[in-house]
Amino acid sequence: MTAGPAINASALPLTKPIVLVGLMGAGKSTIGRRLASTLNLSFIDSDQEIVEAAGCSISDIFESYGETIFRDLEQRVLTRLVGSKPCVVATGGGAFINPAVREIIKEKSISIWLKADLEVLLERVSRRDTRPLLKSGDKGVILRKLMEERYPVYAQADLTIDSNAGVHDVVVEYILQSLKQKLGHG
Ligand code: S3P
Repeated sequence: MTAGPAINASALPLTKPIVLVGLMGAGKSTIGRRLASTLNLSFIDSDQEIVEAAGCSISDIFESYGETIFRDLEQRVLTRLVGSKPCVVATGGGAFINPAVREIIKEKSISIWLKADLEVLLERVSRRDTRPLLKSGDKGVILRKLMEERYPVYAQADLTIDSNAGVHDVVVEYILQSLKQKLGHG
């Protein structure tokens, strides 16, 4: 897909939040922030909301309380966020994999899978060493396994967007074009 002419974002008849899903390094937060500003909507990062609610980092939550507690917090935060007015929400990579979270995202929002190749994900996650799931071994091996497990599930999102492009504006433009088509203004 190539980026077409710029889209008048204010013409999109959005009535629900837009929820970005996909693996670590797919660009959910960076692209989400940019998409929100293009659409003049607020941007919310669910991991950030969890950190604020818990008063400690994601790594600390995993270390001190375990992944199950993190997933409970994630479910609570996302249930609140997707029930709100139109906004752009970036989820953590495991959120959409939880069937209960997936169900409410599918019911109450427009879900978009940001899909990227292993090399791109690996390059992006290597910039920060804060992700607990990537600390236990070789990042490439872990990511490849997560891709095998999770890509069929992310594929259930309403839209799939290639997020390999290094230029975020190009990815935002792909999203706007797909949204326009989906919402009947294509
Ligand atoms: C996770 C992804 C992380 C964070 C947590 C677990 C996952 O978010 O929620 O470390 O299960 O894939 P990002 O996808 O924003 O890195």
